[in-house]
Amino acid sequence: MRKNIVAGNWKMNTSVVEGEALIQGILERMQEVPSSVQLVVAPPFTHLVPAAAALRGSSVALSAQNCADQLKGAYTGEVAAPMIAGIGCQYVILGHSERREYYGETSQTLVRKIDLALAEGLKPIYCVGEKLEEREANRHFEVVEAQIREVLFHLTPEQFAQVVIAYEPVWAIGTGKTATAEQAQEIHAFIRKTIADQFGQTAADEVSILYGGSCKPSNAKELFACPDIDGGLIGGAALKAEDFIGIAVSF
Ligand code: PGA
Repeated sequence: MRKNIVAGNWKMNTSVVEGEALIQGILERMQEVPSSVQLVVAPPFTHLVPAAAALRGSSVALSAQNCADQLKGAYTGEVAAPMIAGIGCQYVILGHSERREYYGETSQTLVRKIDLALAEGLKPIYCVGEKLEEREANRHFEVVEAQIREVLFHLTPEQFAQVVIAYEPVWAIGTGKTATAEQAQEIHAFIRKTIADQFGQTAADEVSILYGGSCKPSNAKELFACPDIDGGLIGGAALKAEDFIGIAVSF
């Protein structure tokens, strides 16, 4: 059976000290979270080593927010998948719309990142989602299908089994506008069907598909009640332990 996952994408927020306090706040409330829910935190790179130490022995998994599209060498400012895996990350967020939009990440770049992450045993949280104008032109299915086909379809079934998909409509990220549960369920079901067509029904039944975009304690219950929504990728609301836990208890 697929996992329920609530992952906190901290983006470029918090100092190391604030990050440690946030992790302590989450750990202190872990007894409220059902054991069937996998919590993941994705702090900035600078926080990963102390975060790994703080999380040791807990059930909360650690994620990076990105990795390089090269293995090693003269790539100033980049952080490679083996470095991330080597300090104890289990997950890496790839293809976030902010990376696509502000840093020019293309499907080609993301294929290299996914392959490098998988080779290190990292589980990619691969983000897809349409922009507002694409939704308004009723192109969201075709956009999301292409993002999945171009970056995931070359994987073997064994590799694909390590992937988590996050559907994040760009118009809902950080805007306070959430997709309705019906809109989210409709596209999550479409994503699962796209996966079934390529990798088979078992793979489709087992892949966790997370919703992201202004998810908060007040709307998580309705979203998570949808049959094809297996959790959330949380931005703003992941920066307060109370809200993050409030979302994690919404299954
Ligand atoms: P948000 O961000 O929850 O602040 O909308 C979600 C994300 O970008 O992962």
